[in-house]
Amino acid sequence: MRKVALLTENLGVKIGGKEILRNLNIELPERRILAVMGPSGSGKSTLLRAVNRLLDTVPSCEVSGRVVIHGVDAYSSDPYKVRRLTGMVFQVPNPFPNMSIYDNVAIGPKLNGLVKDRRELDDLVRWALERAMLWDEVRERLKDPPHKLSGGQQQRLCLARALALRPKLLLLDEPTANVDPINAAKIEEALRSLVETQEISIIFVTHTPHQAMRISDYVAFLYMGELVEFGLTQEIALNPKHELTRRFLKGEV
Ligand SMILES: Nc1ncnc2c1ncn2[C@@H]1O[C@H](COP(=O)(O)OP(=O)(O)O)[C@@H](O)[C@H]1O
Ligand SMILES: [Mg+2]
Repeated sequence: MRKVALLTENLGVKIGGKEILRNLNIELPERRILAVMGPSGSGKSTLLRAVNRLLDTVPSCEVSGRVVIHGVDAYSSDPYKVRRLTGMVFQVPNPFPNMSIYDNVAIGPKLNGLVKDRRELDDLVRWALERAMLWDEVRERLKDPPHKLSGGQQQRLCLARALALRPKLLLLDEPTANVDPINAAKIEEALRSLVETQEISIIFVTHTPHQAMRISDYVAFLYMGELVEFGLTQEIALNPKHELTRRFLKGEV
């Protein structure tokens, strides 16, 4: 049996008294990709932010139920510990503008004491850039600022930055929405290879059903804050249980 990377039990989120997520039950085995799909406003980003406790910073936000990441109960643990288990990539590439490409990746491990010397840091930076499929494009210009990179390369830099902290669970919020198709394909390939070769699990948010089906092992379909359907991607692709899922897959909702 594989270990469980993420478990949510009756997860609910209210902001300012309004119910944003209701009763979500999800179980993702480790070294698998879960695609969270659903139309805009269905609560996908809120789910990611509930998992890594970024919602802590939102005033009047109440989280109920349980979130367990690799056996760590997220809401009864130190939020910093939770964020150390997770890594996050956002929709708009957001590299640190005043740092070199190298430092964008190196700063996290350096501040967190993950490496003992420069040599280890160099190795980790290279490893992260390779895993993000960016190394070959930047190895000769590690000292350049990130704005010299294309948008898609910047997003892969953000992926490398997240990976350098060696998260167990990587969260990506529509990471290819602002990226050209070639870069999007590279990111998808990098993610598939990560779960096949590393001790990492991935939650990938997308509003595109095609991308969800292509990239994932498991799918969660959110609609207006509710989990309409959750299961193995192959089963949902062949035989969605709910009419709403069927319609979403056809592009009708
Ligand atoms: N900080 C917030 N304050 C108030 N409402 C919010 C906040 N964040 C999200 N919401 C609401 O929660 C719902 C789900 O939002 P979101 O999780 O961003 O959806 P998605 O990522 O699927 O587009 C939306 O109706 C949105 O307006
Ligand atoms: Mg969103």
